Amino acid sequence: MKDFDGKVALVTGTTGIGLATARRLAAGGAAIIACGIDRAANAALKAELESSAVGALVIGADVSVPDQVRDAVAVGVERFGGLDIIVNSAAVHPYGTVTSTDFETWNKAMSVNVGSIYLTAHFGIPEMVRRGGGAIVNVASVQGFACQQNVAAYATTKGAIHTLTRALALDHARSGIRVNSVSPGSIRTPILERAARGENGTDADVEAAYKRFGEAHPIGRIGEPEEVAELIAFLCSSKAGFCTGADYKIDGGLTAGIGVK
Ligand SMILES: NC(=O)c1ccc[n+]([C@@H]2O[C@H](COP(=O)([O-])OP(=O)(O)OC[C@H]3O[C@@H](n4cnc5c(N)ncnc54)[C@H](O)[C@@H]3O)[C@@H](O)[C@H]2O)c1
Repeated sequence: MKDFDGKVALVTGTTGIGLATARRLAAGGAAIIACGIDRAANAALKAELESSAVGALVIGADVSVPDQVRDAVAVGVERFGGLDIIVNSAAVHPYGTVTSTDFETWNKAMSVNVGSIYLTAHFGIPEMVRRGGGAIVNVASVQGFACQQNVAAYATTKGAIHTLTRALALDHARSGIRVNSVSPGSIRTPILERAARGENGTDADVEAAYKRFGEAHPIGRIGEPEEVAELIAFLCSSKAGFCTGADYKIDGGLTAGIGVK
């Protein structure tokens, strides 16, 4: 018997941590409903998972659009018979201060990073209630606790995810729905690669940047998406039955110190 036999999991984001989580939950026996806007990543995940024993649906969806999330939940529930797990990993990562960030970019960060969590919960929780409970894991960030410069919109969304996680947990605990967040430090994914490339674009030495980022973490390296997926899988599983309303850092010790030597 695997951890997620008989379970149906909706995962947003089909690259990086979302991809690693979809793979981990599928390996644990869950049927997967994966939602993302990256067409190439969607096609690759579809080819990889749709032939899996339990099955997977990979849906091209913008998770900040209400109708698209409603339809993804409905199609997934029709195909697999219900919904037990939601993992919200989709996000955008704009750079800027509040003076350099235009309102459209600000609103997009809010609607993708936070609004999508509202939407998957809004449409997904009634389905979980029908199953007698479920688990939601939101991917936040260490930047929800302490942030870098020039990421005002992104960091704000990550703090909001911590708060929304607590609100969801309190409101739905008695329905058997547990809600937690994870806050990663630097993890080797496309978002970090974009940070590594920075202003040097394609000429950047990405591995050198990863080494530099890694040295800022007490453990001496950046993390891997599979390590985050493992924590998410634990929080989704029945082993985490007493965990709700909390955030779990997975940051190589980054936020344990104050960074002054
Ligand atoms: N990689 C890190 O260092 C790091 C650190 C802390 C937190 N995080 C968080 O981890 C999560 C996953 O990011 P990642 O590191 O795997 O990077 P990523 O870029 O691989 O993942 C983000 C995914 O969201 C998708 N996406 C963006 N807008 C969307 C939309 N409107 N609809 C549907 N999908 C959309 C992207 O296509 C992408 O697949 C994010 O919430 C990110 O903020 C990452």
